[in-house]
Amino acid sequence: MKILGIDTSCDETSAAVLDGRNILSNIVSSQIKIHAEYGGVVPELASRAHIENIRPVVHRALAEAGLNDFNGLDAVAVTAGPGLVGALLVGINYAKAAAWKHDLPLVPVQHIQGHLESVFLAHGNIPLPGLSLVVSGGHTSLYQVDDGEVEQGPHRYTRLGTTRDDAVGEAFDKVAKAMGLPYPGGPVIERLAKLGDPEFLKLPSRPKIDQYRSLDFSYSGLKSAVARYIESRSEFHSTEFETNPELPEKTVQLIRDIAASFQYAAVDELLWIAGRTLKAHPAKSLSVSGGVSVNQYLRNAFLKWGDEKGIPVFFPPPELTTDNGAMIAYAGMLEYPKRPKNFLTLNAQPGWKLC
Ligand code: KG4
Ligand code: ZN
Repeated sequence: MKILGIDTSCDETSAAVLDGRNILSNIVSSQIKIHAEYGGVVPELASRAHIENIRPVVHRALAEAGLNDFNGLDAVAVTAGPGLVGALLVGINYAKAAAWKHDLPLVPVQHIQGHLESVFLAHGNIPLPGLSLVVSGGHTSLYQVDDGEVEQGPHRYTRLGTTRDDAVGEAFDKVAKAMGLPYPGGPVIERLAKLGDPEFLKLPSRPKIDQYRSLDFSYSGLKSAVARYIESRSEFHSTEFETNPELPEKTVQLIRDIAASFQYAAVDELLWIAGRTLKAHPAKSLSVSGGVSVNQYLRNAFLKWGDEKGIPVFFPPPELTTDNGAMIAYAGMLEYPKRPKNFLTLNAQPGWKLC
């Protein structure tokens, strides 16, 4: 089956064409430059950029897949939620109009299912039941994935834990912002942390909710602890910090050390909760997906974790970690049998939960 997948849920306009698990094209137009100035995603600007980008991005995806316009496609899949309502509507309305015009079925896709299935798209079958951790700018959740009933699709998901406050990617972004670093914070923090001391700051991971034997995550305490420390250091208040792009080596090292300590604590919490979840819900594999899963420190830590626990750990390749149309096309293929008959009434579902 040849299927076009479209995602406009946040700050990336993306479209891809899949033929089964074969990725024929995967185009992502990032809006990072637009939002960087504000230190985070501005919803209204995101919607406007999607409106400008959607047509060229979809047409590039079709052309790179060797298709002549929409001819040769069997279906269109589009993210219907969760996400920013204005941003989602751009993709949904474009997909509806295209599917209607070309007489193609339209499959609404839940965005987290896309992230979660990106690992199956990349690796095929993974030993099940498995645990699946989705870590992104908007989500931090752990699911159990089981074989599904044939008519219900190949997988069945059960949510075992989620963040009670911030998502882990959001914490990366906010900590970076507090240190005057550009958006998105994840890649910058990872780069700086390589030359920093992870033991420089003792930060709270393994949160207090530990006491309640919860499988939930919490990142606001960690984020606030780092923000308070930054606030307490005079280096961040000097006019030099505000104006001088060439910071003294001592300040640069301080930033590296804070970045390394934060990254260590952020990943430690993921490992800790994953370990506790595995104890309560024995599984044959762990997969980690979403924008934060591109982080190499996180990958190495989880591979070591998997060795210790005796289960294999899977990640999507880097190009399938941040938001992309390929993962939506793949999830759309799985959801195809359940597609709505009348898609013209399809609306954005900004708070849609996977389960
Ligand atoms: O999956 P994604 O593109 O969007 C959402 O669905 O939220 O994830 C974006 C998030 C941002 O918070 C960004 O800072 C984070 O992924 N991220 C990283 C890295 N690259 C991107 N976090 C840690 N390390 C990275 N290298
Ligand atoms: Zn995402």
